[in-house]
Amino acid sequence: MTTVEQFDVVVIGSGAAGLTLALTLAKHANVAVISKSQLSEGSTYYAQGGIAAVLDAADSVDAHCADTLKAGAGLCHEDTVRYTVERSRTAIDWLVEQGVAFTREQDNSNDKKNNNANSQAHTDYHLTQEGGHSSRRIIHAADATGKVVSETLVNRLRDHPAIKTFEHHVAIDIIVHRDSPTPVCSGVYVLDCENDQVLTFQARFVVLATGGASKAYLYTSNPDGASGDGIAMAWRAGCRVTNMEFNQFHPTCLYHPQAKSFLITEAVRGEGGKLLLPNGERFMPRFDQRAELAPRDIVARAIDHEMKRLGIDCVYLDISHRSTNFITTHFPNIHSRCLNLGINMCRDPIPVVPAAHYTCGGVAVDQQGATDITNLYAIGETSFTGLHGANRMASNSLLECIVYAQSAAASIIQSLETTEWQPNPSHWDETQVTDSDEDVVIAHNWDELRRFMWDYVGIVRTSKRLERAQHRAQLLRNEIAEYYSNYRVSNDLIELRNLTLVSSLIIESALSRKESRGLHYTLDFPDPLQFAHDTILYPPNYRASR
Ligand code: FAD
Ligand code: SIN
Repeated sequence: MTTVEQFDVVVIGSGAAGLTLALTLAKHANVAVISKSQLSEGSTYYAQGGIAAVLDAADSVDAHCADTLKAGAGLCHEDTVRYTVERSRTAIDWLVEQGVAFTREQDNSNDKKNNNANSQAHTDYHLTQEGGHSSRRIIHAADATGKVVSETLVNRLRDHPAIKTFEHHVAIDIIVHRDSPTPVCSGVYVLDCENDQVLTFQARFVVLATGGASKAYLYTSNPDGASGDGIAMAWRAGCRVTNMEFNQFHPTCLYHPQAKSFLITEAVRGEGGKLLLPNGERFMPRFDQRAELAPRDIVARAIDHEMKRLGIDCVYLDISHRSTNFITTHFPNIHSRCLNLGINMCRDPIPVVPAAHYTCGGVAVDQQGATDITNLYAIGETSFTGLHGANRMASNSLLECIVYAQSAAASIIQSLETTEWQPNPSHWDETQVTDSDEDVVIAHNWDELRRFMWDYVGIVRTSKRLERAQHRAQLLRNEIAEYYSNYRVSNDLIELRNLTLVSSLIIESALSRKESRGLHYTLDFPDPLQFAHDTILYPPNYRASR
């Protein structure tokens, strides 16, 4: 007998977006939070630099908007940018109310001369600098902002009587009623990994807060679960996805055989770190007058260019000219991680390479996070709001998570009373499948996918490489579809199925963009077109609901 769980709202994902939404909603509805690992796992936990917000009297909403638009290379939606930036102070206030302990100015008293004079409500918080920002506007908790945000919100969530959490549960697919004039979401199928059983969750609203898809690439700053599940589920349910070709590569991930996915925050460059070739030459000024503080697409491409030109494995990031006290106060986690690997960043340059970091495209949503399916929302990195355009500016992502989680919560609260339960969904059918005796197929296909995405759909693209990748992705999709219909689902199979689909969407979007813009750079069309346009993909079962 299949178990049915029933909640007003099911939130899939427990990063900044999902946690904020659940906590904001909990006074008004009973809420389930489903998370495929433990609650704190996800990109949020690993965020280092901080959250961009207009907090300094010398800064302004106009300036933050202008910087975001410039980094976004003509593709940001201006209304979304203003909507988000105008709410940045409120978003930070909310986090502070929850108990998030951001670094205060006095914690950095020996650094005061480097900071603008902050004023007004957030006068005593230290603001750091990152690429593309025309002033210091990144509020942070040393170099572990995500950990502090995540732990604070998770603690509040665990205590909440109206929120039930389901850790080690993986959402498989959204349940959609198609009998009504427009498709309506009524729940989600979920694999309970501990009991190896598929559960049916019935809900009035489902919210996808599943993060990005950077696991599509061999080298990434992201944790393991970043397999684009929300984007894939939304696409299969009938939602449009937008601008999937814009995959952000962070310029500086630690290059060391024992350091899996460890980021060196952009704030190191913000605080004066210089990028060097193995011979000690500083190269960024040759590529952009903003040098190390140019937007990420420019810095990552410059590093890629120098690595290919010289046949070197990495470049170096050097902040050793700052005092030991400054480095250990600002970057305690990076300092200790590097030291454990034999790199003393107070003395030595840090070896770094670019790695896949952020998915700018995603599920198309409106300003409340509503998707094309009635009662299905998407927030955070899994969504496409129009904020980031062709290149996300550093530290705008956590801001978007909080702002859109709160907008989606307000929209759900407003419709709760008038939203009816849909008829009972049909149960998950396992009668035609058996246990797999060939898991090697999954492991092999994971490796193959991530390698060809890195080689053919990476920082520098060509049409030929993209066509090669498209062909291979189609073969994998066929093989996985067959496997999926014959065997019981597992976490690895669910993720691989999603990642292969999302990779196909990335490739299709990249092939259709006949220009270079922001993060999408192709040797076949090296210049931007005169007019910028979004790449909108429509799933075969798309039916407009609004
Ligand atoms: P995540 O935090 O990734 O959470 C996704 C959640 O969904 C997880 O709980 C995951 O387990 C769950 N999930 C996924 N699929 C399923 C499924 N099928 N079923 C159940 N659960 C599922 N941005 C900034 O603004 N500032 C920074 O300083 C910054 N630093 C970063 C540093 C690193 C190393 C990385 C990787 C990213 C950084 N980013 C930063 C980007 C930012 O952290 C992310 O974009 C943001 O945290 C995404 O939040 P989210 O809530 O959308 O998703
Ligand atoms: C970083 O700290 O460099 C990451 C910031 C971000 O991705 O926004």
